[in-house]
Amino acid sequence: MTDDNESSINLEDAYALETPQDNKALYRNWASTYDADFAQRNKYVYPKSIATICARLVDTISPLNILDIGCGTGIVGTCLSELLTAGIIDGVDISPEMLNVASTKLRIDAKPVYHQLFEADLTEPISFANAKYDVAISAGTFTHGHLGPDALINALSVVRPGGRMVVGINKEHFSANGFQAALQKANESQQISTPTFSEVQIYDQGSPHYGDLALVTSFLVLSPA
Ligand SMILES: C[S@@+](CC[C@H](N)C(=O)[O-])C[C@H]1O[C@@H](n2cnc3c(N)ncnc32)[C@H](O)[C@@H]1O
Repeated sequence: MTDDNESSINLEDAYALETPQDNKALYRNWASTYDADFAQRNKYVYPKSIATICARLVDTISPLNILDIGCGTGIVGTCLSELLTAGIIDGVDISPEMLNVASTKLRIDAKPVYHQLFEADLTEPISFANAKYDVAISAGTFTHGHLGPDALINALSVVRPGGRMVVGINKEHFSANGFQAALQKANESQQISTPTFSEVQIYDQGSPHYGDLALVTSFLVLSPA
């Protein structure tokens, strides 16, 4: 993948990360320019697509408790707040700098998009929420150099039994890193319902990265542990 723009951080850097600490360091430097230099310039439409898919799958009227996994600067939460106006949205991310930007995002009624923001490494056991959420959503976080299938299974613990996950996974990352097997195992052991999949563009037409795809999987969490 070639340089995105004039910014010194690009997708190639993000995809080459190896550890949670690498992620923390990269996003420390990317947080202040991520929205303008990455998302807007590259026509990053993935958060809106995920939010739209999620809104089709859940009750849009009830005040659902929702967790945005790897919320970054809050683009997914912002899109979701426009579609699920009664939703109470929390976010979690390993990067305090990305969370700081997310904390500034406002809903159309000028209230903060996020009710609570948690700093946590999702490759570790999760302590801030146990079976608390009706819905967990994610875009851009299950990708090269970021989170793999173990973290997806780890994250089941935040969703209440009967709650739903709507998670985007970079399509190449999905194929290369055993997501299918992990989801199948979780389904066979009655942890989750049979997952559904749809394919979305990560970037819109006109972006240098148009054609990069994600699989959006959705399922009910039957037994979080
Ligand atoms: C490409 S950004 C996506 C952010 C946002 N969801 C979006 O679509 O714009 C990936 C995010 O994953 C977070 N992340 C990476 N590794 C993580 C980990 N181990 N635990 C929690 N968050 C992590 C990063 O800090 C970053 O904010």
